[in-house]
Amino acid sequence: MDCFVKGQGQKACWDKEEEIRMERFLSVNFGASQPGSRLSFYQIVEVISQQIQSDSALQGCRLPPIRVLAHQLGVSKNTISAAYEELKAKGLVESRGRIGLFVSLGWDSFSRQFKGQSSGQVPLPVLKQKPSLRLSLGSQEKFLLLSSVFIDPSLAPKERLANCFRSALKSPGLSRGTDPQGFLPLRKKIAERLQKRGIAAQPQQIMTTVGSQQVLDLLCRSMQSKVIATESPAYDLGKALMEMNEMVSVGLPVDPFKGVNLIQWEKMIRESKPGLIYLTSNFQNPTGYSYSSREMTQVVEWSQTYGFGILEDDWGSDMLSYSEFKPSLRALGGDNVLYMNSFTKKLLPSLRLGYVVGNEESISALVRSKSLTVSSAPPIIEAALFEFLDRGYYDAHLKKVQQELDARYQNCLELLRNSMPQDVRWTSPGGGPVLWLELPKSIDLEQLVLRLKEEGVIVRCSHDAFFGTPHLHGFKIGYAFLSIQEMQIAIGKLSQVLK
Ligand SMILES: Cc1ncc(COP(=O)(O)O)c(C=O)c1O
Repeated sequence: MDCFVKGQGQKACWDKEEEIRMERFLSVNFGASQPGSRLSFYQIVEVISQQIQSDSALQGCRLPPIRVLAHQLGVSKNTISAAYEELKAKGLVESRGRIGLFVSLGWDSFSRQFKGQSSGQVPLPVLKQKPSLRLSLGSQEKFLLLSSVFIDPSLAPKERLANCFRSALKSPGLSRGTDPQGFLPLRKKIAERLQKRGIAAQPQQIMTTVGSQQVLDLLCRSMQSKVIATESPAYDLGKALMEMNEMVSVGLPVDPFKGVNLIQWEKMIRESKPGLIYLTSNFQNPTGYSYSSREMTQVVEWSQTYGFGILEDDWGSDMLSYSEFKPSLRALGGDNVLYMNSFTKKLLPSLRLGYVVGNEESISALVRSKSLTVSSAPPIIEAALFEFLDRGYYDAHLKKVQQELDARYQNCLELLRNSMPQDVRWTSPGGGPVLWLELPKSIDLEQLVLRLKEEGVIVRCSHDAFFGTPHLHGFKIGYAFLSIQEMQIAIGKLSQVLK
């Protein structure tokens, strides 16, 4: 039969040996092994691919014409034609105009390279040094995460979110392109909510981001000045991001038990001349510290004296009841103050939706940077989140979360009061998701972390978060992630190990 035929110029020349081999191949692989059953497209592609790959002598052979193979296998010509197209796409066969399809010459050296047997490797592009911070501790499922900043995923209103996603998917707006500044109805909702809290915000002054982490990234990359000051200990991933963006970062010490040494801060600011100060006005990560109104007013005054901008991070808002009672830095400093917040901690981490509020000038510069990097935040998520806010689900969710977290917060404080040794201290932030636990200097923190891990509890010592030698000796406790029972076990283990 006319099987694979060597192609020579325009003429096809029969090759008896191959004809016999291919006849056997076709009858064994397609015929005898599949009595009575019709072969699928996938089986045909699979069998021919295997044959070609296992027999390099077939290179340059012509494949049977479509109608012949279709007739032999009892399948439609369309099936064979589609199978041949697939083989072409895989690079195993090639078309030579009207004379037909041939097994590609050199496919085997090509595939050898794919198996890593080639003699040369393309050089790796030179990557800049990564930030020192360990971003993941591997799988942590079986551990109790005592320092997590997230809220318990079981509190996420998944069913309601699913309804909003379903509704958003049906929205015709989604196919009409994206707004790099963010879905306007969502920006309107965010503006309304902020205004209720006394934070000046108009929809045109808001830009959505992929997590509020993106605000930090865009700012680092857009700022003319490369000097940025923030707290020490800092939000660790923010600090790492600044390092990655080669910013000169300055750490302004925060002691959550004593507050801020304003004389020291002013000296550092005067000397380092930052272009921006990035502060978490309330419930700072990792200390849980909230600035007094006096401290915030002082920072706003310095911004005028020393000419720096302010970025306010309000990540911990809306978590506990009674936690928003002070004016924000934006309220004190006007709309040149950039304000960032996020839905990831309060609703669901995987939404990855944050936002920044500025004014027309700052936001238009940031929108340009954002549209060049990610084009827009995922519009489907923005639309679903808008639905979630619009239907009143977010308020209902926050009410439930606040009740639950209030109970967890009180429980955590109670457990610490009852079980910690005398010389251990902790903060009581009254909001946000974390507090700071300060241990006596005699305790070896590295050892403590290892011992706790053996007991199934993971804590995060924030060494990376300090600029220079740490002035605190402890770690953060997240009271929003573990259930009341889990917290009891985790604090129990902690007290056991400390004693
Ligand atoms: C203080 C602070 N700001 C910002 C972020 C960034 O959060 P996201 O990108 O999830 O919005 C985090 C995350 O942990 C944080 O702790």
